[in-house]
Amino acid sequence: MFNEERHFEQPIRWAMVGGGRGSQIGYSHRNAAQRDGLFKLVAGAFDLDPQRCRDFGVNLGMDAERCYASYAEMFEAEAKREDGIQAVSIATPNSTHYEICKAALEANLHVVCEKPITFTTEEAEELKAIAASKNRVIGVMYGYSGFPMVQQAREMVQRGDLGEVRVINMQFAHGFHNEEYEKNDPGLKWRVSPEVSGPTYVLGDIGTHAFYLCEVMTGLEVDRLSCMRQSFIKSRTPLEDNAHVMMEFKGGAVGTLWASAVNAGSMHQQKIRIVGSKASIEWWDEHPNQLRYEIQGEPPRILDRGMGYLYQDAEGVAANRVGGGHAEGYFESWANLYHRFALAFDAADRDDQETLEGIWFPGIDAGIEGVRLCEKCVESADQNAAWVEYK
Ligand code: NAI
Repeated sequence: MFNEERHFEQPIRWAMVGGGRGSQIGYSHRNAAQRDGLFKLVAGAFDLDPQRCRDFGVNLGMDAERCYASYAEMFEAEAKREDGIQAVSIATPNSTHYEICKAALEANLHVVCEKPITFTTEEAEELKAIAASKNRVIGVMYGYSGFPMVQQAREMVQRGDLGEVRVINMQFAHGFHNEEYEKNDPGLKWRVSPEVSGPTYVLGDIGTHAFYLCEVMTGLEVDRLSCMRQSFIKSRTPLEDNAHVMMEFKGGAVGTLWASAVNAGSMHQQKIRIVGSKASIEWWDEHPNQLRYEIQGEPPRILDRGMGYLYQDAEGVAANRVGGGHAEGYFESWANLYHRFALAFDAADRDDQETLEGIWFPGIDAGIEGVRLCEKCVESADQNAAWVEYK
């Protein structure tokens, strides 16, 4: 059970870069981080516009002097305060993640960073090395991985309930951008601009989420892949609004990933189906409290969150906030992750490596693999969907 009971004396003094007024994802971070009282928002460089940053921060109840015009100013000023920030979340467009994350680590801060964490794997590896040298922790916001039923799926695969994993179908295919909405939507405009979004659009924006679910549930490593990508809205070229990836995993399993923003009529369609030699499971983010479990030759079953027949001994499965039958959702999944980020940051501060290693959360390695997926898909697609080695 996750709740607001304290794990340490005082909440972690926390700031945000980006996530300002009107942003898509800022509220999700603030809601999740502060849900259990383990973080307290005390400073921010929320916005490119300093006045809007200050108005917004004051409106959230913060001191005006701690609403900064830039992240650089914030890191410098906060380092001089006795009650300065200890951690920061970065919720800015993709092109800025690397430089802000690097500056935060160099300022001795723990970081939660949005995905894709960088444009290149070299940059992401560099962040990993800086974090290690400073004993800092990086969490990456793969927000769907905190759902208890995702953790149940992981347990079932790892404990062999499906037999040997053979096929993995991943998809995150929404329909929200089936027309050229970027003409009037700045949040979409940067996503289809390579200089801000990076080498991909849908692969990095949503494909990485589904891919991370596969990583969490199966623990399998991709051996090689082939990717076809295109833009049905031509002005988005060279970035893709639709992509199909075929994968071969080490050990013999195969898989596909469909990432799309032009799946007209669809809400999210973020689904993952894992087919084993004995049984299959399927999880869908629009019904996150359920997991479909199909054993060959038996009627299909729907497993529900919070029930005694789940793997109660697995911490992630038991991370409920309310009993089964009540719908938990997206915000709870995020809060579950922030809860773990807090425990990880605290363990690192106490130099308690054993505890740190025992806390499951999406960290820098997950961030690196998301960036690698994008890199390798581009490499393949640029060669007419040639098969490319993953590592
Ligand atoms: P957005 O365009 O809606 O908001 C960006 C915010 O960052 C704005 O408030 C803007 O003023 C601010 N900003 C931009 N540059 C800044 C800088 N240098 N310093 C301070 N503030 C700055 O973007 P959105 O959709 O909120 O996405 C932000 C990030 O979050 C992206 O990397 C995106 O991929 C990721 N994201 C992740 C999701 C998830 O499920 N984990 C969902 C949606 C977005």
